[in-house]
Amino acid sequence: MAMGSIGIFDSGIGGLTVAKAIAETLPNIDFIYFGDTKHLPYGDKSAESVKNYSAGIAKFLVDKGCEAIVIACNTASAQAVEKVESVIPKNIPVYNVVDPIVDLMVQQYPDKNIGIIGTKGTIESGVYPRKIKAHNPNANVVSMATPLLASMIEEGFFNSSISRSIISEYLSEEALKNIDVLALACTHYPLIKDDVDAFYLGRVEVIDNAADTGLTTWDRD
Ligand code: DGL
Repeated sequence: MAMGSIGIFDSGIGGLTVAKAIAETLPNIDFIYFGDTKHLPYGDKSAESVKNYSAGIAKFLVDKGCEAIVIACNTASAQAVEKVESVIPKNIPVYNVVDPIVDLMVQQYPDKNIGIIGTKGTIESGVYPRKIKAHNPNANVVSMATPLLASMIEEGFFNSSISRSIISEYLSEEALKNIDVLALACTHYPLIKDDVDAFYLGRVEVIDNAADTGLTTWDRD
């Protein structure tokens, strides 16, 4: 693929999991990463605010010469794709991290009980059940907001007793009791995948948002 630099953004360090996955597949590509730590967490902000932050960052990245934008944040992918597309030139592709998870769930887990965890903004948008059921109306999808996790990770709490204790509280919720597969629908969450796996001990398949989404998004076109 002939491509100049790409602009990747998130509310903080979470999108670096996507940037890392892209860099591993396309080692020669240049990218600019923007972590909007000033406004973190996006998950608790209004959709209007997330749209405005995202639009401002996308314009900034395009002004810096980026020829593609990766919204490496589920919250912004759930709420701000159209807004971002509306403020940058039409020939600049915009990739999001929701559609690849949806494709994966539809293609690989059509008969499974699917769980989704993410920020309040992502979960309350209803984007995952809506998109999965648009492809597979019989899909069983439960989604649950886990609002403490992104800030916890941003503060460096992962692979620790504190992170495992908070994760265990969330994953023990009734809503997630019967799931077969769990999508980590926040780009911060790959950093707690080991903690989540330690909770389930193989009983539930855990889908790593970055490896499974950053790359498949990119590879598709
Ligand atoms: N990494 C972001 C996401 O994927 C969210 C973290 C936040 O709440 O800012 O949704």
